[in-house]
Amino acid sequence: MKNIVLIGFMGTGKTSTGKLLAKRLGAAFIDLDRAIEEEYGMTIPVMFQQKGEAYFRACEHAMVEKTAGRRNTVISTGGGTVKDPANMAALHEGGIIVCLKADIDTILARTASHGTRPVLDSEDQGDRRQAIASLLAERRRLYEVADFYVDTSTRTPREVVDEIIRQIKHEKIGGGSHA
Ligand code: S3P
Repeated sequence: MKNIVLIGFMGTGKTSTGKLLAKRLGAAFIDLDRAIEEEYGMTIPVMFQQKGEAYFRACEHAMVEKTAGRRNTVISTGGGTVKDPANMAALHEGGIIVCLKADIDTILARTASHGTRPVLDSEDQGDRRQAIASLLAERRRLYEVADFYVDTSTRTPREVVDEIIRQIKHEKIGGGSHA
């Protein structure tokens, strides 16, 4: 089975969906952010604070290079993994790219806890909704690299997984059995 790579903005459900999807498919699961935290021995917010975003992006790229060559793996990316075209080229090589989407209010609610999303916490606007809206607008085009989209705003994680499996079968892009 090709990898299934979940991309999408913060709060769209990449991690929870990825875990469930991997379980359902009997595939391995890798969450890039958690893998980075384990490898470098610090949380992402601490990494941003102590080493800066450029350092985090370099670690993120190294982790993509390390994981993209696997097979039979569901890979949940970070919201900004799409910023580096080399990341997406490597992930697309052996994987189907699925973009999870959600509306702004859903993203706002799901990312409400401060201290966990440094790219939002560092925004100066004060208004978190506005910070999300402008980052979403900035990145929208980057998420178009996906093979297909699934909106998670009103779906349960199980429904999201069902929809991903349905679309893979429908588009016959899986290169194997997924159910
Ligand atoms: C980021 C999203 C985060 C994490 C880091 C940067 C981003 O992942 O990789 O804080 O630039 O959007 P989630 O999308 O899992 O929150």
